[in-house]
Amino acid sequence: MQYSMKYIFGFAAAVCFVCSILISAANVGLRERQRANELLDRQQSVLQAAWLVEPGERVGRERVQELFDNVTPRVLDLTSNALLDDEAAAAFDPDRAPEKPAPENRAGIRFMPEQVEIYEVIEDGEIVMLVLPIVGQGLWGAMRGYLALDVDTRTIRGLTYYEQAETPGLGGEVDNPRWKRLWPGRLAYDDDWNVAIEVIKGPAGPPEENPHEVDGLSGATLTSRGVTEMLRFWLGENGYEPFLKSFRESGRA
Ligand SMILES: Cc1cc2nc3c(=O)[nH]c(=O)nc-3n(C[C@H](O)[C@H](O)[C@H](O)COP(=O)(O)O)c2cc1C
Repeated sequence: MQYSMKYIFGFAAAVCFVCSILISAANVGLRERQRANELLDRQQSVLQAAWLVEPGERVGRERVQELFDNVTPRVLDLTSNALLDDEAAAAFDPDRAPEKPAPENRAGIRFMPEQVEIYEVIEDGEIVMLVLPIVGQGLWGAMRGYLALDVDTRTIRGLTYYEQAETPGLGGEVDNPRWKRLWPGRLAYDDDWNVAIEVIKGPAGPPEENPHEVDGLSGATLTSRGVTEMLRFWLGENGYEPFLKSFRESGRA
């Protein structure tokens, strides 16, 4: 049986139309679930940075929610360096946060969010840690993660990346729990509150002997430098430094 050209094109158009409707419906229908999964992923990273779960350990939604009972998300305005009140914070969407051009930096950051979600970790009613989002360029692309600082705003409690495109076995070792174990106890700032933490080439020794340096990733000097530069930026005057300073001065540290 021979079909006319009109029939063939009409049939193909009808198939395309039906498929596009199905794909759009699936996209809209799954969006909520996608967003819920993204949120869960972010929460897991926050918990890993704070070592409330082991790096690499996957915990279920219920356990994350249980642990998050002791983690308070706050929204920090990076222009006024003040925390937003609860009402303004409730309307904040981290995926739609407006951005502003970043001041000159060596971390490859061209635009930075005007507001960020940070997290207070609570124990016995007291803040014991602050978990701060960080982002900067690795060798192959942006690396996004969290830095957990002790309430003294100086001692690092953990560092984790939830998004990075570095080469597995080289720069990708930023995800290796062994490397992440090197961070807790190091000091982000020196005695004069200058950013002092640095990933060096080669081994750095334990935090008690070498509080400001962390082992470099072998064969991945460029990724290591990316980590150092993003910490310098985010802990510096254009990042969290003014907020951390006022946090300390408010007597909460
Ligand atoms: C295929 C390939 C992938 C690489 N991936 C990374 C990487 O993810 N991070 C990195 O810093 N260097 C990576 N490098 C190595 C860099 O090009 C560079 O040689 C290295 O950072 C220098 O580090 P080193 O002084 O510790 O040897 C890669 C090299 C090749 C050939």
